[in-house]
Amino acid sequence: MTIDFDSETGIGPKDPNGQLSEEEKALLGDIQGNILKSHGRDHSQHLFITFDAAKKKEARTWLAELAKNKVTSALKQWDDSRTRAGIFAAAESKDDPEAYRSAELVKHPSSIFINVMLSSKGYDALDLSSKRPDDETFRGGAAAAVPALADPPREKWEAPFNTAEMHALVIIADDDPGRVATEAKAITSSLTSGKVVHVEVGKALRRGENGPVHEHFGFADGVSDPLYFAKDIAQQQTTNWNPAAPLNLALVKDPGGDATTGYGTFLVYRKLEQDVARFNQDRYELAKALAKADGRTDPNHADRELAGAYLVGRFPDGFPVSEKGTPEGTDNGIPNNFNFDADTDGLKCPFQAHIRKANPRGDTKRLGGTLKDERTRRISRRAISFESNGKVGLLFLCVQKDIKRQFEFMQASWINNPDFVQQQPKTGLDPVVGQGTEIAQQWPEKYGSTKKITLSLKQAVHMRGGEYFFIPSMGFLKGV
Ligand code: HEM
Repeated sequence: MTIDFDSETGIGPKDPNGQLSEEEKALLGDIQGNILKSHGRDHSQHLFITFDAAKKKEARTWLAELAKNKVTSALKQWDDSRTRAGIFAAAESKDDPEAYRSAELVKHPSSIFINVMLSSKGYDALDLSSKRPDDETFRGGAAAAVPALADPPREKWEAPFNTAEMHALVIIADDDPGRVATEAKAITSSLTSGKVVHVEVGKALRRGENGPVHEHFGFADGVSDPLYFAKDIAQQQTTNWNPAAPLNLALVKDPGGDATTGYGTFLVYRKLEQDVARFNQDRYELAKALAKADGRTDPNHADRELAGAYLVGRFPDGFPVSEKGTPEGTDNGIPNNFNFDADTDGLKCPFQAHIRKANPRGDTKRLGGTLKDERTRRISRRAISFESNGKVGLLFLCVQKDIKRQFEFMQASWINNPDFVQQQPKTGLDPVVGQGTEIAQQWPEKYGSTKKITLSLKQAVHMRGGEYFFIPSMGFLKGV
C-alpha cells in the first residue's frame, strides 16, 4: 500500500469534486465508517450483545451476514456524503433551492448507518483470540482501567455494565429515530446465538431544527476534531492550529484482516451522566465571584457567559474564550485556528478549562514535551447525548490507535492531573470531566487579569459504565 499513514496531507482528493484513487477506494472499502469521520446522524441506538457460549459458530455466521448486508464501510459513507453534498451544491443554482433540495433529498434519503465491534472477551467468546489485536489495555477492558482513571469501582456502575460480559456492540444511526428503532428490532430478532443485554439510545441536541449540536450543559459540541480527509483539511486555516491528522492516529492493522487493506481502530465507550444542576451551580458561583470582583452583588449575563467559558474554554456558541475580543463572544462562525501561545499565564483561558486540558495545543512544551508528541495523543470523538429515566449525559465514544497512549493518557495525565502545566499554584481538575479530589482553583477575576479568584468546584460528570472495543475491518468480519 503506497498510502502514507504518517502523512498529515489527508486521504482522498483535495478538490471536493475530485475522485478517490483505486488504492484509496480499496482501503476505505475495507474499513468501517465513523472512524475517519463521524457518521453525523442525529439518532442512534447502541446494542450491547453477549453471545451464547454454546453457539460460537452460529454467532460468527451472524456477524459475517451483518457485515455483508448491513455494516457501513468508510467508502459507502464517502459515496453517500458526496451524493448529498452534490444535491446541496446543485440547489444553489436553482430558482427555488429549498424546493429542489427537499425533492432531491426525498429521492436520496440518508442511508441508515451501522458499525459493529468486538470487546476482547468477544474475541474469546467467538474462539477468535488468535485474531485479536495484541494490546494489553484492550484485553483488560474498561474495568481494568478504573484505578488509572479514578473511575468509580465497577460494582458501582449502572446495570448491566457492572456485571455483564459485553462481547459486541452494534451502533445503528439515522436522522429518523423510527428507522433506527425498526432496524434495531430487526437486528435484535435476527440474533439467535446470543442476546442483546443492553441498549443505549443517543439523540443529538440541536439549537433549532438544523442548528449546531450542543451537549446538555448547553455548549456547542463536536467542534474540534482531527481531520483525516484532504478536502476537509483544505477548508481550514491552519496557521495557529492544524487539525490535520495522519491515518495512523486512528488506524491500526487488523490482525484478522486483509494483509494490505485490513485496518481497524480501538473504541472507548463511556456512559457519562451530566449533573446539569451541579454544573449550573458551579457556573453561578464563579459568575457571582466575577461580579463581586467588579463591585456588584448579582451576576449579569456577561458574568455567566464568561464563567461558563472559563469552565469549558469556549463560550456556549463555541467561540474560544482565549480569542474573545468582547466579553460576550460572538456568533460569527466557530474558530479553531488558535493556540494558547499568547496566553501563557492562563489569564484568558484558565489552564484547567476543559478544552485546554483535553487539547493543550502546544502547552506541553512548557513541560519539556514537543507539539509533535502532543499531537499523537489526540482522539477522534464520536459522542452523542442521551436522556433516559430523568437522567441526561453523553454517550462518550472516541476512536484511536492506542487507548493507553491516547484516551487514557488524556484523562489520567492531563484532565485528572492537578499539576498539569502548572504546579504553583496547582491547576486542579478539568471542571467538566476531571475525576479525583477537587482542590481550590484560580480563575482570572477579569478577562486577562493577573488577579485571581480562588474557587473550588464539585464534579458534575459521573462515569456510569463502559467498555473498550475494536472496530475490525470489513474483510475480517465478512470472513469470520
Ligand atoms: C471538546 C464537552 C467529555 C475530550 C469539548 C467541547 C465541549 C465538550 C463543549 C468544546 C467543543 C468541541 O470542540 O467539540 C464535554 C462534555 C463531556 C466531555 C459535556 C462529558 C459529559 C470528554 C472526555 C474527553 C473529552 C471524557 C476525553 C477524555 C475532548 C476533546 C475536545 C473536547 C479532545 C476537543 C478539544 C480541542 O481540540 O479544542 N468537550 N466533553 N471530552 N473534549 Fe469534551
